[in-house]
Amino acid sequence: MNNRNPNNNARRSNNQQRTGQNQNNPNNQYSRYNQHNQNNQYYRSGQPSNGYRQNPAGYDPYPPVRHRSRRKARQTAFLVVLTVIIMVMLLVSVVIFAARCASGQFTDNETDTASGLITSSQSTTEAVSDTQPPETTAPETTALAANFEYQTMTEADVHKGYLILVNYQNAFTFDTDFVIQPFYGNRNNSYKLRDTLVSLDAYAMDWCNQMMAAFEAETGYHDILVNSAYRTLEEQEEIYSSRVEDYGEEYAKNYVAVPGYSEHHTGLAIDFTIYTDDNESKTFDDMTDYPLWLSENGHRFGYIQRYPGDKVDITKISYENWHYRYVGKPHAYYMKLQNFCLEEYIDDLRNYPYDGHHLMLTDDEGAMWEIYFVAAEGETTEVPVPTDREYTVSGNNVDGFIVTIENGQAS
Ligand code: DAL
Ligand code: ZN
Repeated sequence: MNNRNPNNNARRSNNQQRTGQNQNNPNNQYSRYNQHNQNNQYYRSGQPSNGYRQNPAGYDPYPPVRHRSRRKARQTAFLVVLTVIIMVMLLVSVVIFAARCASGQFTDNETDTASGLITSSQSTTEAVSDTQPPETTAPETTALAANFEYQTMTEADVHKGYLILVNYQNAFTFDTDFVIQPFYGNRNNSYKLRDTLVSLDAYAMDWCNQMMAAFEAETGYHDILVNSAYRTLEEQEEIYSSRVEDYGEEYAKNYVAVPGYSEHHTGLAIDFTIYTDDNESKTFDDMTDYPLWLSENGHRFGYIQRYPGDKVDITKISYENWHYRYVGKPHAYYMKLQNFCLEEYIDDLRNYPYDGHHLMLTDDEGAMWEIYFVAAEGETTEVPVPTDREYTVSGNNVDGFIVTIENGQAS
């Protein structure tokens, strides 16, 4: 594949435009015009003086009026010729310019990409010829864009990272890099805990702390409670069997994931309830403003409401207004914007491969992000990553990797 950095193309386009101007340099036209003028002046200055002296007095074979008339005719002829030459040159220039435009040499790639909030980059000007012979020797190597290098990811890495999709079709591998730590001793005072053991991934907990601080600051409530978060396989088995016993398997499966397929195993999911200062337990169903604030603001802290009521046919889990999942800020923001559940988002990202258009977005705080997908290729996959910007790589727990690049702050 070719280097598809749109800036390179833009630079080439500018050079070509400059070359085109040189070919039609108006200075050349002016210098030809001056040559004609000089010739005219030379001819006019020699002719009249000769004949005038040899004629008898009173006879003027070149009366001034006629003489001026001839000079004027010659002048007019030169002007006509000059005009024709200029017009022919202009016509040739227009034809050349039109031909170059038609061949795409003057295309401005940036006009393709700047189309609002969500735009694309990595121009896909693929000039693939049908007549090229098929590759018969070494496979074509992918040329990296400027300021990119490869990061080698293993098959196991497909199942690690903040964007892993764990659902009824995609089990959690329990081979993880997450750092599971108790909330107790690591949380702020804006919320409460069911017990001292309830735990979460450290990074997700940091964002949970920020979310709860904002929740208290913006609602005045400080009685939201983390009821359940990280779960081992054994803990999920206990919950699952108990629900199956109470409600039957068909009903239980609507609310409790089959052990091994719960995203509570990841340490990225939290179930919230409420515990008032009067020692009263309440659910989110009892207090509409709690779930409302979280569903409207969770994305600011990288959290998504994982099981919305309008996505039950996709998630296969009933509406759970208390279950939140950390995915990271730009992803939560984009999912909120598009009303995507995680299954839909993971699917959608396959439309943004490294060698195609990337998902470019500016979040609600002006941070700019660039996101693309790289399909896993087997035991190892070479994932292109930038050398000049901060980035993360996450597996999707299905078939590839998602690269998220921080592109700074919008001005
Ligand atoms: N409540 C969610 C679906 C779980 O058990 O993972
Ligand atoms: Zn849950």
